Amino acid sequence: MDKFIIANWKMNPSSEKEAGFLLRGVIKNLKKVKNRKIVICPPFLFLSFVKKMKNNLIELGAQDVSTSEKGSQTGQISATMLKNTGVGYVIVGHSERRAQGENSEIINQKIINTLKQNITPVLCLGEKERDSSGNYLNYIEQEIRTCLLNVSSSQVENILIAYEPVWAISDSKQREATKEEFIEIKIFIKKVISDIYSPKIAHNIKILYGGSVNKLNAKYYTEEGGADGLLVGRDSLDAKKFIQIIDSLI
Ligand code: PGA
Repeated sequence: MDKFIIANWKMNPSSEKEAGFLLRGVIKNLKKVKNRKIVICPPFLFLSFVKKMKNNLIELGAQDVSTSEKGSQTGQISATMLKNTGVGYVIVGHSERRAQGENSEIINQKIINTLKQNITPVLCLGEKERDSSGNYLNYIEQEIRTCLLNVSSSQVENILIAYEPVWAISDSKQREATKEEFIEIKIFIKKVISDIYSPKIAHNIKILYGGSVNKLNAKYYTEEGGADGLLVGRDSLDAKKFIQIIDSLI
């Protein structure tokens, strides 16, 4: 099964020239290996540039999408615009966007728009903290149920779910997640998906891990934790480190 390695460049780099330098570094060292999908999600501003410069071992992703399909939405980018720019993946529900007020209803609308354009949503979810009474599980269940409202069985298998515990993301990092913590949530997400859809869909759905992924822990999450892929922030901004993560999975 394909393993996804998704680079989330966030609000980096600060110029097209630097974006070119970073991407060239990745392209130069990227080996052709089966069963891996490398997706790069630059800021909107650099999508066309990355599209022109990338090779066919790299797929193009965006970091967000509008809740509206078209019309008067100052500063917004629609799923149709992304489709027409060659985007195949969109990160939705990242905790850094949720921190700016984005809730699961908004994320649900973004997922619906994205799926309509046959773009793969990468749905990020995860708790801010782990409490001993297990409330974080209720929180995650609620996130899944609301974000997937009105998403049909045939559509849901096209979604990638990325478990990103907020406490493990590099900027706010308290500590790294253990494989046991990832496995627990993976099983839990599959149970919720099974309740909403079916055991077969739960079996097929892909669950990625994100939060301080680096060359030393990448394989730990995919092999020992059984993650279907990784969402990489900080270490995707350094071509050498990003390639080391990719190569560590071989
Ligand atoms: P990080 O970011 O790898 O820098 O922790 C991951 C993310 O926020 O998607």
